Amino acid sequence: MKNIVIFASGSGSNFEAIQKSILEGKIKGKIVLLICNKKDAYVIKRAEKYKIPVKILSEKEFEQYDDYVNELIETLEEYKTDLIVLAGYLRKVPDKVVKRYKGKIINIHPALLPEFGGKGMYGMNVHRKVLESGKKVSGVTIHFVDEEYDHGPIIVQEKVKIDEDETPESLAEKIHKIEHRLYPWVIKKLCEDKIKLTEKNEVKIYD
Ligand code: GRF
Repeated sequence: MKNIVIFASGSGSNFEAIQKSILEGKIKGKIVLLICNKKDAYVIKRAEKYKIPVKILSEKEFEQYDDYVNELIETLEEYKTDLIVLAGYLRKVPDKVVKRYKGKIINIHPALLPEFGGKGMYGMNVHRKVLESGKKVSGVTIHFVDEEYDHGPIIVQEKVKIDEDETPESLAEKIHKIEHRLYPWVIKKLCEDKIKLTEKNEVKIYD
């Protein structure tokens, strides 16, 4: 049974999809904590509904960045964290945390990385840029996190067709639907040790 800590800043529909999958017995894990940097984020309401502990942690509240990083690491240790899941988390995870949890920290991105990723590329911004580019396909990427935004080794990608009359909103809806299925699947596999990041940064997926 793995201890999962979710980092999220927004609405938390992915958070809820993961929790539902856990409650259905599909994932051998438990969300032990939600870390959120915004005290009014809707994801907090969702966590409360399931009685999942919430910690609001924002670097802005610390005079020294290192103090923030240390608090974060102490919290992750306190909760005996096995897996960190970023689900719409809009801050950069400190390098020290990324190093310490190498191969145990994942992110989901609402486009086909390496395109349409990086700083500022989140939420509707991504879908607007994809549509402006004239692409006929977008999708979802789930990847291990490294020290760069939206950059680490890719675990899985799923494509979605862009229709003629597609709007950022309709694309977001299609993508969310995929995310709510794909993220729980990846987390299930990770909790069963069936997805691994090798020393050479290769992703291995086992049946
Ligand atoms: C998702 O589209 C995810 O790809 C991105 O942020 C969004 C979060 O949505 N990283 P939600 O808060 O889970 O509804």
